[in-house]
Amino acid sequence: MKYRIAIMAALAVTWTGSVLAQAKDPTIAGIEKYREMLGDDNPAELYEARGEILWKKAAGPKNVSLEKCDLGLGPGVVKGAYAKTPRYFGDAGRVMDIESRINWCRETIQGFSTADIVKKPFGSADKPSEIEDLLAYVVTASKGMKISPPNSHPKELEAFALGEALFHLRAGPYDFSCGTCHAVDGMRIRLQELPNLTKTADAKGAYTGWPAYRVSTSRLHSMQWRINDCFRQQRFPEPKYMSESVNALITFLAVMGEGAEYKGPALKR
Ligand code: HEC
Repeated sequence: MKYRIAIMAALAVTWTGSVLAQAKDPTIAGIEKYREMLGDDNPAELYEARGEILWKKAAGPKNVSLEKCDLGLGPGVVKGAYAKTPRYFGDAGRVMDIESRINWCRETIQGFSTADIVKKPFGSADKPSEIEDLLAYVVTASKGMKISPPNSHPKELEAFALGEALFHLRAGPYDFSCGTCHAVDGMRIRLQELPNLTKTADAKGAYTGWPAYRVSTSRLHSMQWRINDCFRQQRFPEPKYMSESVNALITFLAVMGEGAEYKGPALKR
């Protein structure tokens, strides 16, 4: 056992030492160029188009559409709703990010069960999940708007504080926090720049970068997925889909990114 701990510790040192290098590299310029070359052709538009059809189509055990869904700005208002999340929803009694809220509508309006919704939330390249389509439609309707989560209701302030605390919480086999990788300037892992999410400028870019279509995986990924995957990188157990802690972290990130103009689903390597 002692040996195992020593090996783990040694691995942690070499791993952090080698991969968390300071960035000053032409590769970053190369990636930017690649993004430029892909230009305006973002396959996220296909998700958006499918999402709009799904939104308006009667579905679920109750066979109704989502058109009466209240995303925070009143029943049926999609335009601009994403920019004002995460927020506290009185009917649900909790703070939700946009993905949690769309799913809440699928449950309460369309009658899907929680089990159905959490079964396979993240799709695959050949089989996107419905929530990813719906999400693309809803977020795109906030294009051009400024990110402005309300951050005023006591529950919203509580979610922000919890998110901030979780961001700095060190634990797991490597004793990593989110901040180990995301509270330092100019850090990168291999070719990937790591934003310093405690700084407004980086946080703005990072927050508005999701949901994103990733060329490397040929899929659209949500912010819920992004946080899940970072928990994996942190060697933490995978959080429950739409859990309070993930919503709190998303609240923290949204408030840090406040004021950024949302440009629609991003395109990533
Ligand atoms: C071991 C290092 C590591 C840890 C710990 C980590 N991340 Fe990440 N994070 C990454 C990497 C790598 C990327 C991907 C960068 C890329 O693909 O450009 C990333 C990307 C992100 C992004 C998207 C940034 C962007 O500009 O697109 C967010 C947001 C994020 N992480 C949040 C978190 C949160 C919240 C936590 C804690 C739960 C966390 N990360 C923990 C390594 C880490």
